[in-house]
Amino acid sequence: MRVLSGVQPSGTLHIGNYFGAIRQFIGLQDEHECYYFLADLHALTTVQDADRMRTLVRELAAGYLALGLDPARSVIYRQSDIPEVPELSWYLSTVTSMGLLQRCHSFKDKVAQGVVPHHGLFAYPVLMAADILIVRSDLVPVGKDQKQHLEVTRDVAASFHATYGVEIFTLPKPMIQGDVAVVPGLDGQKMSKSYGNTIDIFGPEKPIRKRIMSLVTDSTPVADPKPTEGSALYQLLKIFAPPEERSWVEGAFADGGVGYGDMKKRLFDYFLATFGPARARYDELMADPAEIDRILRTGAEKARETVAPLMDEVRKAVGIR
Ligand code: TRP
Repeated sequence: MRVLSGVQPSGTLHIGNYFGAIRQFIGLQDEHECYYFLADLHALTTVQDADRMRTLVRELAAGYLALGLDPARSVIYRQSDIPEVPELSWYLSTVTSMGLLQRCHSFKDKVAQGVVPHHGLFAYPVLMAADILIVRSDLVPVGKDQKQHLEVTRDVAASFHATYGVEIFTLPKPMIQGDVAVVPGLDGQKMSKSYGNTIDIFGPEKPIRKRIMSLVTDSTPVADPKPTEGSALYQLLKIFAPPEERSWVEGAFADGGVGYGDMKKRLFDYFLATFGPARARYDELMADPAEIDRILRTGAEKARETVAPLMDEVRKAVGIR
């Protein structure tokens, strides 16, 4: 199977991103032919500052590589390095009805929030369809919020086929990540950049430690047993604790005698044990931007080889060649 997914360089990588998505991307590399890309053209719909964009792309690339996306097994590239993607996006936009895009939840939600939409935001799902269809991906691992965009992708592909009487594209299936991976943020809500409750994976230790120590807990005295229901600290400890420490976590909550401060210190230790090697690799990569550029360039070359025959077919089908 061919797997493809994209991630927007629109913020700093946090542990919710890892347990919610990246870990799955890494696992899929063993069984499938994977294409993973940095959706920088999509990110332009929100990040409109050149220096910030360059920084976010570099950090995201370093983060993904450090965590285990492997350029020897997967094709890792930057969307803007594949000019065929926006080209295909244009052909697709001419067979996509306005109504289909007007029904997209993510677009409607943004408008409901008071965002004055530009055309790029409206056309976002068409560009996403181009990303997916251009490599003939079978499976697209995404979060629930992206499910409708996969449906749009299938509709757009079918519409192209119907308009031109061809069968060029593979209709992709979403691979929706289950709820198991919902990571609570510092305040107990789902960890998300938009709630400001994240714990970053990379960057200096001190601020991360501070964030972890600021986790919201109740006022149960040190000596008493602690409630686990609705406790973000408990859930995070369970996610991070190595197997041999799980009973310590259960005991600390059930028996009492351990204060929240000490539990948070443990959590920070587990965090470092989990991400330490990736954090070291990240620092190495960030100190060697030429290496990141080289990896992305090689990925782009491979991706362009993959897309070339399909693009020939598409251009012939529409009569541009
Ligand atoms: N829209 C996706 C998100 O915000 C990112 C994305 C862009 C994507 N193109 C894609 C995901 C293609 C999967 C496949 O999460």
